[in-house]
Amino acid sequence: MDRTLTLLGIESSCDDTAAAVVRADAGRPEILSSQVLGQTALHEAFGGVVPEIAARAHAERLDGVVEEALAVAGVSLDQIDAIAVTAGPGLIGGVLSGVMLARGLAAAKGLPLVPVNHLAGHALTPRLTDGIPFPYLMLLVSGGHCQFLLVQGVDRFVRLGGTIDDAPGEAFDKTAKLLGLPQPGGPSVEEEAALGDAGRFQFPRPLLDREGCDMSFSGLKTALLRARDALVVEKGGITVQDRRDLCAGFQAAVAEVLAKKTSHAIDLAGRPLTALAVAGGVAANTTIRAMLETVSTRAGLPFLAPPLRLCTDNAAMIAWAGIERLRTGLSHTSDFVARPRWPLDDRAPALLGSGKKGAKA
Ligand code: KG4
Ligand code: ZN
Repeated sequence: MDRTLTLLGIESSCDDTAAAVVRADAGRPEILSSQVLGQTALHEAFGGVVPEIAARAHAERLDGVVEEALAVAGVSLDQIDAIAVTAGPGLIGGVLSGVMLARGLAAAKGLPLVPVNHLAGHALTPRLTDGIPFPYLMLLVSGGHCQFLLVQGVDRFVRLGGTIDDAPGEAFDKTAKLLGLPQPGGPSVEEEAALGDAGRFQFPRPLLDREGCDMSFSGLKTALLRARDALVVEKGGITVQDRRDLCAGFQAAVAEVLAKKTSHAIDLAGRPLTALAVAGGVAANTTIRAMLETVSTRAGLPFLAPPLRLCTDNAAMIAWAGIERLRTGLSHTSDFVARPRWPLDDRAPALLGSGKKGAKA
């Protein structure tokens, strides 16, 4: 029987300062606390995450967020068995803030320290929420990531494909910016799209008919910009309905590309496969989620979408990945380096895309 493990997880690789306590025994794991302090307001004026501002905010806030996570969980550091920390990929200043704090706490309390790959945290989340066995297919789709991963084990990932340029969340954010909608762009574009006509503007679906499951989203934003500018030239501006139709057309293009490529990825993954799981903020989009679910059902696979707070960046997934690593006897060591780039599958060719967190996987 697995012994009970209680881990403190720390995450600071982008613009969320997060800490969580997760406890697991032989049964279902329990999230005792999961605190996330976002930084949207700090970066708003700059139209993207500013690495220096993010790093400073993490350094200033991490102590408090960790204290809060322990207090909400009702445990002290003496009741923690190990500390798991995101050691990359991400913005290096932020990653370092988390790693330094984790190192200090682990040394002070004589606790094992488990370095966790942020992407592995996302990829292992369906096991935290639903306990699904390996192997499963994961579509990680957020503002910083977009890739298909065949998850074969705690430390065995095969990247089947991904975006070669922007991540879809980034495209949603840029679309919102071009149309004067509030950030983050995903929810505001979705809201407008619900009132629009998706058939009015035909936006490109790059790489749609190409084999494999690589994707491209940067052309979409250029097409949207052109369509908007054409309306401005024609009528001197865009109406509320124009904006809704542009959002609907854009969302339909993203959804179609993701759905078709997911279908390719399922074929590439082969069998056995226990489920199709999604993670990342874009997985919150109702239209996209519904299309992915249809693809999954058609392929005879259960569709798993963890609750949004566990789909987006959080530290519970880091604590959980730490528990998985400890249970499988994977090394825990204080001797590791923080890494801005850290592909889960180092045999796959490097992704060209950068995402809002900078070049990474
Ligand atoms: O996973 P996440 O919180 O952070 C990372 O990027 O890692 O994802 C945030 C992204 C943002 O780009 C946001 O616009 C997008 O997810 N997003 C959505 C929706 N909600 C959030 N995109 C489309 N539709 C949504 N409802
Ligand atoms: Zn993430």
